[in-house]
Amino acid sequence: MPLVTTKEMFKKAYEGGYAVGAFNVNNMEIVQGITEAAKELNAPLILQVSAGARKYANHTYLTKLVEAAVIETGLPIALHLDHGADFEICKSCIDGGFTSVMIDGSHHAYEDNVALTKKVVEYAHAHGVVVEGELGQLAGIEDDVNVSAEDASYTQPEQVEDFVTRTGVDSLAIAIGTSHGAYKFKPGQKPQLRFDILEEVSKRLPGFPIVLHGASSVIPEFVEKINKYGGQMPDAIGIPEEMLRQAASMAVCKINIDSDLRLAMTAAIREHFALNPSHFDPRQYLAPAREAIKGMVTHKITKVLGCDGKA
Ligand code: G3H
Ligand code: 13P
Ligand code: ZN
Repeated sequence: MPLVTTKEMFKKAYEGGYAVGAFNVNNMEIVQGITEAAKELNAPLILQVSAGARKYANHTYLTKLVEAAVIETGLPIALHLDHGADFEICKSCIDGGFTSVMIDGSHHAYEDNVALTKKVVEYAHAHGVVVEGELGQLAGIEDDVNVSAEDASYTQPEQVEDFVTRTGVDSLAIAIGTSHGAYKFKPGQKPQLRFDILEEVSKRLPGFPIVLHGASSVIPEFVEKINKYGGQMPDAIGIPEEMLRQAASMAVCKINIDSDLRLAMTAAIREHFALNPSHFDPRQYLAPAREAIKGMVTHKITKVLGCDGKA
């Protein structure tokens, strides 16, 4: 099976009350850890690449790694551009074999977001590629854009029909209180998501797939391990798993996870070096890092997303 778009997987996810995991990939071990877990569980997958990942690993290397995963697993896998900032990067990914792109116009004024998103949709659809748009702004860091909690803003449900109709997007990322990175809530703050906004959006867009960014749980086991083996991460708080399960049972069809991959990998590598200080062969520490990612993704697919057996 070649790379697929998200069209069919979102339709099944919406109807089935589960979500597909969208995992950020930056190198071979990350691709392998994620896809080995999905293969064992027969789960559909979205592998997503940020501008930073393209800069780090190169477009061609990343596409070829994902194509290799398609061959190795036989799974339906979509290759997605995460947070495309402008038309040019979207075009480059569409021309370069991606099956899905995000145009993130959420930092622009509403009408500018509509115009930019529409332009990307026209080009993408003419090339058989699907598009994710965004309304509302998440807090946190993505690439070089740092949005403070004060500047973040929830999605306004009264804008979504107009946005989707005028742009023609295939899915919509909304802001309901999640944020990027490992520090989503302040210490002592109780994590909360605006499920009322999600509910209102889905009433206005029946059957339409919604995307949740900034959805890592910041798994405490990894943060504890990082700090046990020399790390210095302050209190890191993520999105509770039961909230993600609730979102997945509603209109959310795509759940974005990057920070949990970073934490799983870093915890395994820190532990490995603490226990084996004389090692210097990268395979010795990257193999446990890959296993940690596989274990974490297995947990997400079976206990959070509910997409096991749905490929
Ligand atoms: O939303 C941001 C993702 O975690 C990607 O992060 O831009 O550092 O690759 P990055
Ligand atoms: P996290 O930082 O919560 O993993 O979010 C990742 C993300 O939204 C990528 O687009
Ligand atoms: Zn994101």
